[in-house]
Amino acid sequence: MSGWGSGYVTDVTYLTGYFRHQSPSLLSAACLLGSVERSLPAHDEPISYLELGCGRGFTSLLLAASNPSWTVTAIDFNPAHVATARAWATKARLDNIRILEADISTLAEDPAAAEVPEADFVSMHGVWSWVPPSVQDGIVRLLRQKVKAGGAVHVSYNALPAWGPALGMQRIVREGGKRLAARSDKQAAEGLKLVQELRGADAYQLVRSVWLKSLIERAAELPTSYLAHEYMNDFWAPCFHADVAKALAAAKLEWVASVNLAENFPELTVSPEQRAVLQRLDDPLLRELAKDMCLNRSLRHDVFVTADARRSPARSVADTEHLAKRIAERSGNARRKC
Ligand SMILES: C[S@@+](CC[C@H](N)C(=O)[O-])C[C@H]1O[C@@H](n2cnc3c(N)ncnc32)[C@H](O)[C@@H]1O
Repeated sequence: MSGWGSGYVTDVTYLTGYFRHQSPSLLSAACLLGSVERSLPAHDEPISYLELGCGRGFTSLLLAASNPSWTVTAIDFNPAHVATARAWATKARLDNIRILEADISTLAEDPAAAEVPEADFVSMHGVWSWVPPSVQDGIVRLLRQKVKAGGAVHVSYNALPAWGPALGMQRIVREGGKRLAARSDKQAAEGLKLVQELRGADAYQLVRSVWLKSLIERAAELPTSYLAHEYMNDFWAPCFHADVAKALAAAKLEWVASVNLAENFPELTVSPEQRAVLQRLDDPLLRELAKDMCLNRSLRHDVFVTADARRSPARSVADTEHLAKRIAERSGNARRKC
């Protein structure tokens, strides 16, 4: 690991992928489910989209390529990521995307921030729970400056309490790996070997959860560069939803809904008994905490909006169930018509 990453892995590049949760269409659909008026973005609208911690920029590049009227800005501090993203943008002859090399912990105070346009949509995938608090604070200051009134912000993060059973596993991967004087992907593989050995010896903390068992099994099949970015960062820390909401409140952003759309319908995700408890909870943050106790949401995808965007109170469980019923009835009618 280098000295400039503030504890984030910089010696191995991240994987390439398109992540649909970052798409403005899905964010707008989530906003609608959370009672925030928002029409689905048309491809010929002049939308400004900003991605923070874009890696090799594949999601931003695809969004720019398929929506020529949008202005896309993608930011990462790793020069290797930025170089790849820029090369792909040139190869695809995209003129509606800018890829900036910048550290988001200090960008808000940097003159380079003037190059970042205000955004209708901001997305951070795989960033929040992997970076130190100083970077999270920098993100909040940047969001305060750059999110347009009525704008929406997507943030994904490893969530508590679901990640609880795997805290020890992550620590063993990192501590075991760090003892090896090698690149962080090799360190991650070494650390995982130690986890597997301990699991083979029935270490209580590694065998007690079915989810953790499958996490360890899946990890063995994943590229080691992914494992490095997932497990080798010094400040990785899963978070409670309420704490992310509290941090983003400093940028006057309010939580609206999950970008995993089905999660907004308790009827589809929790038992009738659990629903009865959730129904009594008016405070959306307490309701989400209670829901996180019922589900195994280890990676949350949340959408937040600027405080002025919410013109009606947050949807209650009863409202959501009513909406689910209407959608089910309509799709039943549509099926009957076919
Ligand atoms: C797990 S990767 C996710 C990349 C991309 N969002 C994706 O899902 O493919 C996290 C990214 O955040 C970037 N990053 C970490 N700390 C940063 C900082 N302080 N400033 C800018 N980028 C940062 C890393 O270089 C890395 O590309």
